[in-house]
Amino acid sequence: MDSSHFAGKTVIVTGAGSGIGRATAERIVAEGGRVVASDVVESRLAALVDELEGDVVTVLGDISDEAAVVRVIEAAGEQIDGLANVAGIMDGFLPTAELDDETWNHVLAVNLTAMMRLTRAVLPKMIAAGKGSIVNVSSEAGLRASAAGTAYTTSKHAVNGFTLSTAFFYTPKGIRCNAVAPGAVATNIEAPFKSEWAQQRLGPLMQTNVPGVAEAAQLAAAITWLLSDDSANVSGAILPDDGGWAAY
Ligand SMILES: NC(=O)c1ccc[n+]([C@@H]2O[C@H](COP(=O)([O-])OP(=O)(O)OC[C@H]3O[C@@H](n4cnc5c(N)ncnc54)[C@H](O)[C@@H]3O)[C@@H](O)[C@H]2O)c1
Repeated sequence: MDSSHFAGKTVIVTGAGSGIGRATAERIVAEGGRVVASDVVESRLAALVDELEGDVVTVLGDISDEAAVVRVIEAAGEQIDGLANVAGIMDGFLPTAELDDETWNHVLAVNLTAMMRLTRAVLPKMIAAGKGSIVNVSSEAGLRASAAGTAYTTSKHAVNGFTLSTAFFYTPKGIRCNAVAPGAVATNIEAPFKSEWAQQRLGPLMQTNVPGVAEAAQLAAAITWLLSDDSANVSGAILPDDGGWAAY
């Protein structure tokens, strides 16, 4: 591992307290970078600071709240080299007829609107610098319909569209925008089935179609590659990181 990939760079990571976000923050710090770590769970941010040796600034708050976005940008300062939009939540696998407004609004707010607001906030600084890399975490549920409920599937398909649109408009200004689509990963994400019909419909597919469960560090490797200059010619990619599931 090149230990200086992120030397002198500041990268914002949302959902940095756990799972894929935490592994991403760890890797950036290990490769010499400064991390602005956003999460909604205070104890997870405290553990991150305790356990990581390096330059980590934490910002507690719900990233779907505009006020939290403002605080993250303030904590980052003038130079923002990278943004990893990792924070996300599941939807209880609720299918359309069983979907309640609260689940729909919450899942779209955290998985999609937060990403838009934070990206919108970093872009002026990246445009002024003429460079920057944004990596969004999508999902296998952004590539097919059989990996989650309707709200989550919708949110992750929208993440892909958001990623492409951002790449289209801003790659000519030196800013790259890509997404990573994980398959199953061992993290703390809560994914109970709240629908009997979804369990009947998805359960058997989950048994046969999911290739395996990855480690968060494997996802962090792809995310940090896309954040780093090693992927300088890559923008607008939706990269499956799923043990081959996308090919099924
Ligand atoms: N774990 C999987 O199998 C899997 C598969 C595909 C995609 N993903 C995606 O990966 C991303 C990371 O998930 P994970 O599996 O590491 O889950 P995780 O629950 O372990 O970590 C997510 C972190 O985000 C934080 N968070 C949640 N809502 C937030 C908010 N509103 N504001 C700030 N922080 C918030 C949580 O507190 C948590 O620390 C998500 O976008 C998820 O949809 C996960």
